[in-house]
Amino acid sequence: MASRNLFLLPGDGIGPEAMAEVRKLIAYMNEHHGAGFQTDEGLVGGAAYDAHGAAISDADMAKAMACDAVLFGAVGGPKWDAVPYDVRPEAGLLRLRKDMELFANLRPAICYPALAASSSLKPEVVEGLDILIVRELTGGVYFGEPKTITDLGNGQKRAVDTQVYDTYEIERISAVAFELARTRRNEVCSMEKRNVMKSGVLWNEVVTATQKARFPDVKLSHMLADAGGMQLVRWPKQFDVIVTDNLFGDMLSDVAAMLTGSLGMLPSASLGAPDGKTGKRKALYEPVHGSAPDIAGKGIANPIAMIASFAMCMRYSFNMVAEADRLEAAIATTLDKGLRTGDIMSEGCTEVSTGEMGDAIMKAYADA
Ligand code: NAD
Ligand code: IPM
Ligand code: MN
Repeated sequence: MASRNLFLLPGDGIGPEAMAEVRKLIAYMNEHHGAGFQTDEGLVGGAAYDAHGAAISDADMAKAMACDAVLFGAVGGPKWDAVPYDVRPEAGLLRLRKDMELFANLRPAICYPALAASSSLKPEVVEGLDILIVRELTGGVYFGEPKTITDLGNGQKRAVDTQVYDTYEIERISAVAFELARTRRNEVCSMEKRNVMKSGVLWNEVVTATQKARFPDVKLSHMLADAGGMQLVRWPKQFDVIVTDNLFGDMLSDVAAMLTGSLGMLPSASLGAPDGKTGKRKALYEPVHGSAPDIAGKGIANPIAMIASFAMCMRYSFNMVAEADRLEAAIATTLDKGLRTGDIMSEGCTEVSTGEMGDAIMKAYADA
């Protein structure tokens, strides 16, 4: 069997703690299922800055470009608050996304049955929730030029970030959303702010045209992104797939995370376009959460977002659908048993460490 090359970038804060749990699963899959995962490991974020003075080295960047899939932990933290903007930890993640052309960010928000009571919303609002946010990841205000701070010389400065979208960028991300909707409830809601932004006008136009021309069978609706945020909290089960831009997608996915009980629950896949010859996509898998400096080093972080990101990796990069299903089921079983990290703890449950949660999920996987 062909080997499956994974490049691990644990990063900072709770990134390495969560990645340790995935490393155990990789070893298990190799030993018991002949999965053939080959791993290499690099530095990103503050860890890379401390070692090389850059948020990712060119050598590690080249490894990320060459592997089958990157598994990414988290970056950032107060230690690097004062480092220059271009080499701040987050710049490493942005470079990976841009250089690997990972334009499609899939952020599924699933409320596991056992966690309906852990959400800050009423259980009936989130029970059975299964939505997918498709976030555009290589354009918009994150990357648009100019991006500057200018001294105006009168004691004032001017900061400029630029929101830019071209037709092809909107077309390709909406096609991903429509294709995924076909495998689900077949409904896409597009969110932008066409009432105040030119990019919102174009976004709306291109999504509508793409649906008409290529996906007439998929139901499409539109919502202004601010109202979309409100509707996500009011009645999230009205949504199936949400497609939106880079910045709105960042914010809406953190909102969606809390519907599932914790930011520590949300995985993501960042995918490039399929290669014309091989059909393979460049891919990076990461939890939606950050380095959680407030709990880092304590062994209490929730590893489920990272583990579920590995399940997405098996599903999307290696077509290991049965294994991915089984790993997601093992997460559900473990939660059903009442095991909880602190962030999702509720009455009558047993509080466990990061490592204990990882071990329990692996055991549930093995026993399934
Ligand atoms: P954060 O996601 O790190 O933490 C927000 C809150 O959620 C914290 O209270 C944290 O303890 C909690 N939390 C997050 N993940 C958790 C988990 N797995 N288990 C339990 N609790 C968890 O966001 P922040 O505090 O705004 O940012 C901290 C740093 O992380 C910043 O430097 C930011 O830029 C960076 N960040 C990185 C990524 C990434 O690497 N993909 C994503 C978001 C933020
Ligand atoms: C995320 C993060 C990143 C983003 C940061 C760390 C660059 O918040 O992946 O959600 O803003 O995209
Ligand atoms: Mn974010």
